[in-house]
Amino acid sequence: MGSVMKRTNMCGDLRIEDAGQRVTVNGWVQKRRNLGGLIFCDLRDKTGIIQIVFDKDIDSEAFETADRLRSEYVVGVTGTVRERESKNSDLPTGDVEIFADGLVIYSEAETPPIYIKDDDDVGENLRLKYRFLDLRKPHMQKNLMFRHKITKCARNFFDGEGFVDVETPMLIKPTPEGARDYVIPSRVNQGSFYALPQSPQMFKQILMVAGTDKYYQIAKCFRDEDLRADRQPEFTQIDIEMSFVDQEDIIAVQERFLTKLMKEVMDVEITTPFPRLTYKEAMERYGSDKPDTRFGFELKYLNDIVKDCGFGVFANAVAEGKDVRGINLNGCNDRFSRKEVDKLVDLIKTFGAKGLAWVKMGEQVTSSFAKFMTEEEMQAIYERMEAKQGDLILIVADKPKVVFDSLGFLRRELAGRMGMLDKNKYNFLWVTDFPLLEYNEEDGRYYAMHHPFTMPNPDDIQYLDSDLGRVKALAYDIVLNGIELGGGSIRIHDQKLQEKMFEVLGLSPEERVKKFGFFIDALKYGTPPHGGLAYGLDRLVMLLSGSDSIREVIAFPKNQNAVCMMSEAPGEIEQVQLDELAISVNLPAAEKDVD
Ligand code: AMO
Ligand code: AMP
Repeated sequence: MGSVMKRTNMCGDLRIEDAGQRVTVNGWVQKRRNLGGLIFCDLRDKTGIIQIVFDKDIDSEAFETADRLRSEYVVGVTGTVRERESKNSDLPTGDVEIFADGLVIYSEAETPPIYIKDDDDVGENLRLKYRFLDLRKPHMQKNLMFRHKITKCARNFFDGEGFVDVETPMLIKPTPEGARDYVIPSRVNQGSFYALPQSPQMFKQILMVAGTDKYYQIAKCFRDEDLRADRQPEFTQIDIEMSFVDQEDIIAVQERFLTKLMKEVMDVEITTPFPRLTYKEAMERYGSDKPDTRFGFELKYLNDIVKDCGFGVFANAVAEGKDVRGINLNGCNDRFSRKEVDKLVDLIKTFGAKGLAWVKMGEQVTSSFAKFMTEEEMQAIYERMEAKQGDLILIVADKPKVVFDSLGFLRRELAGRMGMLDKNKYNFLWVTDFPLLEYNEEDGRYYAMHHPFTMPNPDDIQYLDSDLGRVKALAYDIVLNGIELGGGSIRIHDQKLQEKMFEVLGLSPEERVKKFGFFIDALKYGTPPHGGLAYGLDRLVMLLSGSDSIREVIAFPKNQNAVCMMSEAPGEIEQVQLDELAISVNLPAAEKDVD
């Protein structure tokens, strides 16, 4: 095993213009074929693949060594670039090859348990277990480089606009913001715990109190919540806070940032200002506070039409103060048989829907409920739904939340099945005027919809004592193609109003001091009006790279059970460590048996 050969070129960079050049490349053996007097080897580094040829008659020593090469051996090769006899148009380097006259094997490799190629369809847990191999795949290297490009662009942009990058602590006081905290026991202060930050929220606000004026950070955040394709227990935000600004100022900076980002990393021109929808409009038109506007299928309100109809499901719903709304899947009637339409209801049961009424506008109109309706009522529905022959109308009657969730889900799910989610379309939009508070039926109290530091709309502050559901917030989300990319708000900068918010959220004066004393204190000593926003960086990279999961754009993600398959975190700790922390582990009996 010799010393490292000094690299002159990356494998993926060689082109016909380089023919005649002497080069040295380093990389991994993708594959090797021995054709008797010639050995062909594909060599890979992060930039791509180049073909190497070893000729027995030219350099028998290199040829002998090349014959020992196996997949994933790491080697250095010296030789001359020459035009290939048979070109490979699948490879950017496919016009050339390196005619080798020197070869060093740096390290050998066992047969890899997964193939190093993009279309390997092995299960994800295996990919995550052997992440060091999985990351060698060209698309994974591309994702890492693409993510780097995005963070670099963010840093350049915010630096250029006068934002200062400040790090905030990872070991903080447990002050739940919405999700469950990850907690860390303290050894020095036994019985006390740190929490990992769900976001730098309070610290970035305190930086505004401190006069930092404009802050940004590419910040790690931790939330112990149920995982999905776009959620990880630890994830990254591009986190921003600004002083002496209103909502319009913050939106304007973000639109400048996203315009620059799209141009720089995607070479796509997007137009600003982005469309805006209030929360109410977004729910009523799309059944979602993160609407995907790449396709239509908007929700339509039908209560006024069906309130006195003969179909009990609709009439009773209206009488009970519920909603009846529908979507029209324009031109999609033929795509769904009657049986398939009947099956759609299974998709929305998880949202609490009890049924799905439908009209198939085929050559003959068929419907699950028309027989209970008058001709006029059906005509009025067709008109409201803008129905034409070939359409499929789906209607849900239930509590507004159930109706919105069900139809919002169906419109996107079915658009997806019909191939209408164009990955080359980038529909950015703002959702504004969120409710400040959200009522939780289970425990009969209100929770902050965003977080407790969000400023109520000044016009609604009067309702903080009388009609909590009515209070809107100065909060906004940035949405891209149906995914919440980021969210933010103008913050409360008045200590009394902040105390009032805590009171509204049901915190006793003692609890307020215990949990948020330091923060309320900070607000007492001169706080500028301020606000900000945070992007989910992983989601941003996922969307712009066209990936289906944020795990594809995180180097070392956790699986659906919050386990790192590679390092096997979380793991047990030694009894001495537990003793130092004064902690004893009491697993339920059933789990103990598992060992
Ligand atoms: P919020 O909780 O809305 O706001 O988070 C901001 C953005 O972070 C992303 N995100 C996640 N990404 C991956 N996995 C997760 N588990 C996850 N949770 C959230 C989303 C989301 O829009 N401090 C406030 C921001 C502010 O007010 O300035 C906050 O954290 O893309
Ligand atoms: P039924 O008379 O119960 O067979 O219902 C007739 C149609 O109404 C069927 O297509 C049901 O799926 C539909 N349906 C039942 N409950 C609801 C509901 N809450 N919202 C919309 N459609 C419903």
